[in-house]
Amino acid sequence: MKNYILGIALIGLSLKGFSQDATKGKGVYTKTCIACHQATGAGIPGAFPPLAKSDYLNADVNRAIKQVIKGSNGTITVNGKKFTGAMPPQALSDQQIADVLTYVYASWGNSKKSVTVAMVKAQRK
Ligand code: HEC
Repeated sequence: MKNYILGIALIGLSLKGFSQDATKGKGVYTKTCIACHQATGAGIPGAFPPLAKSDYLNADVNRAIKQVIKGSNGTITVNGKKFTGAMPPQALSDQQIADVLTYVYASWGNSKKSVTVAMVKAQRK
């Protein structure tokens, strides 16, 4: 009986290990994204685009995943404003990217999409 309970607990733990986690994502955000996109997700006008209520972010989750993996340096339009800066590729694990984007989508009026590790892996190819 004890082993049975332990087994269930271990399965629970390992499932948790594989799922995305907005709380951990907040930690990644605070270390990695905050300098440019700011604590409120508002960005800095003319320099760093907003993640808060971002039409660009909410329109296409795979594009957002690629943005974090590869960065970009073209011109993009977010909520009607043009941005021409560069975002460097972010050296994060698949799990960290799933967590941070799940946090971003869960915050500041965004669409509450969950980003899984499998979704991140698919965009690495
Ligand atoms: C050094 C500054 C910098 C850092 C650090 C940074 N970004 Fe960006 N980010 C930018 C810039 C600049 C753009 C616009 C790039 C362009 O014009 O091609 C951008 C664009 C984006 C976009 C698409 C546009 C939008 O506003 O919806 C997303 C999503 C995004 N960043 C998420 C993140 C996440 C998540 C992190 C942390 C893992 C992060 N960024 C870290 C500067 C940064």
